[in-house]
Amino acid sequence: MPDKLTSSEPASAAATEAPQPGSAARKIYPIVKYGDPILEKPGAAVKQFDAELEELAEDMFASMYAAQGVGLAAPQIGKSLRLAVVDVTGGKNPEAKIVLANPEIIHAEGEVREEEGCLSIPGFRGYVLRPQFVTIKAQNAKGETFEIRGENLLARAFCHEIDHLNGVLFLQHLSMLKRDLIKRKIKKLRKQGEW
Ligand code: NI
Repeated sequence: MPDKLTSSEPASAAATEAPQPGSAARKIYPIVKYGDPILEKPGAAVKQFDAELEELAEDMFASMYAAQGVGLAAPQIGKSLRLAVVDVTGGKNPEAKIVLANPEIIHAEGEVREEEGCLSIPGFRGYVLRPQFVTIKAQNAKGETFEIRGENLLARAFCHEIDHLNGVLFLQHLSMLKRDLIKRKIKKLRKQGEW
């Protein structure tokens, strides 16, 4: 989301190498689905800013684009780290790629209720109240601190991804009724071997 703001099919079950024009072959990580405890535990702070972290961030972008998401957090690829990537253009504009290491919200304003989804909860969506504008402070893949302001979808993506780094899923923002309904459906899918 938003990791995923729009629903789509999950990535393939196994990591594969997907060559991309003009760049090194990228690892496409499978996306961890709801039910895996890693999604509900806070990630560890990113401390090591090196070539490996830059590679990881690029692989996360590739994995996110492969899954047609607009945001992806490290716990969603099985890494309990405070690292996320966001691109609300879905790869159309390279300048829109944002790496967020250790992000925090420093200002939020307004309210927007919009439908939201998550790559880790494919096929389910719900209305979530989020700030219309947020300013966040984060580090990039090189460890440089920056501030960025997002509006509407971008603000939503920032909030959704920061939630992931705190072990929070969008389900937690839904009414208990809606949340339980989705959880019941997922349980059923799991029993049928479809989750
Ligand atoms: Ni998500």
